[in-house]
Amino acid sequence: MERGRAQRGAEFVQVAHERLLVLAIPVNNVRPMQEGEILFTREQIAKRVAELGAQISNDFAGQRVILLGVLKGATVFLSDLARHVTVEATFDFVGISSYRDKSESSGEVRLTKDVDESMEGRNVILVEDILDTGLTLSYLIKIISAHQPRALRVCTLLDKPARRQVPVRADYIGFEIPDKFVVGYGMDYAERYRNLQEIRVLPPEAIG
Ligand code: IMP
Repeated sequence: MERGRAQRGAEFVQVAHERLLVLAIPVNNVRPMQEGEILFTREQIAKRVAELGAQISNDFAGQRVILLGVLKGATVFLSDLARHVTVEATFDFVGISSYRDKSESSGEVRLTKDVDESMEGRNVILVEDILDTGLTLSYLIKIISAHQPRALRVCTLLDKPARRQVPVRADYIGFEIPDKFVVGYGMDYAERYRNLQEIRVLPPEAIG
């Protein structure tokens, strides 16, 4: 009898759970992301990030650097890159608002979080997930240059040169990619998919 009650209880919980899941899908607008073509696997990314870290370590041998990440997309890249930088490194972050829940830029760039410390006399490596139109980085380069850093370099994991609207060149580039909207490894579509381990092309059915 006790077992019967326990079983009925378990069945109730199971049914309630299934109903909640069914309800949760439309409410949260969750769409699966398995179909997007993989552009770079975790292994390919890890290999290239290690190479970039080695290059930076070599260029700044015997010096200190600040890894200045652009929130939020560059956080995953920065945390992996930093562990391949063998010179003394500190972190700082800037917040930028330009893309709002869309795969198209509004064209307007706004600073939502400034640096915590002055960049004066420091070796600053601006770390970005993707260089697209160039509007974000040209804006940031102007702001950081005003601090009069000792050196200012740009490190981007991805570069979409075909989309450039303003002339910006990165000093360290992980991969050049065609004009496709990508997600994963920190990059989002409407704040989603940042936690994918690989970089995928956003499929049209995921846009909603
Ligand atoms: P830009 O100012 O047009 O160069 O854009 C830079 C920012 O746009 C990046 O930091 C990303 O946040 C976002 N972005 C551009 N292309 C993509 C993409 O394909 N996927 C996700 N975010 C993108």
